[in-house]
Amino acid sequence: MKPPLKGYPSDDFQTPPEALKLLIPYLKREWLIWECAQGEGNLTEALIKEGYNVIGSDILTGQNFLTDLPDMFDCIVTNPPYSFKQQFLERAYSLKKPFAFLLPLTTLETAKRLYLFAKYGIEIIFLNNRINFITPNKKQSKSWFASAWFTNGLKIGKQLVFPTIRDIPVQTTLTGNQSEIIKIGF
Ligand SMILES: C[S@@+](CC[C@H](N)C(=O)[O-])C[C@H]1O[C@@H](n2cnc3c(N)ncnc32)[C@H](O)[C@@H]1O
Repeated sequence: MKPPLKGYPSDDFQTPPEALKLLIPYLKREWLIWECAQGEGNLTEALIKEGYNVIGSDILTGQNFLTDLPDMFDCIVTNPPYSFKQQFLERAYSLKKPFAFLLPLTTLETAKRLYLFAKYGIEIIFLNNRINFITPNKKQSKSWFASAWFTNGLKIGKQLVFPTIRDIPVQTTLTGNQSEIIKIGF
């Protein structure tokens, strides 16, 4: 059987507000939150309803997260475009502010990503239900992939460990384009 959400560009999925539920306890009430790829603004609205001050932006309205910055913000919260998850993660780490990205669990499958997580820290909030994202045709269908909040700086206090079976060379633009060898977990 075909997975229910296949056929839509996953960069266009909008997040239903219930996805925020497990993240909210870790967002300080006084924080100014930046939803930096807000799409139709579901997360922005849900955060405002929760009482947060929120800045919402998107490349669709002329603000590129990878190059632009608001004057002030304390924490970034978004479901980023999946085809740019590496660039979004590198950008978020380089800004040195807390962030929470809703991403597929397959984000953990890539050496480049594990390198970032091991080097700069990651705390992951696994969701015990799949998120039924809203597709461009406005239907909320059953998702075929599991997601989690990939966070840094929220002081959740529990991390994952990343032991390596063998050293792997990776490239990242974060530290200036050089190759490095992953030696983590020991
Ligand atoms: C998966 S949608 C999620 C929308 C919203 N965050 C949500 O959770 O409902 C990803 C959004 O990222 C936006 N986007 C893509 N590249 C971007 C960039 N470089 N800077 C800012 N927004 C970007 C797209 O226009 C799209 O609205």
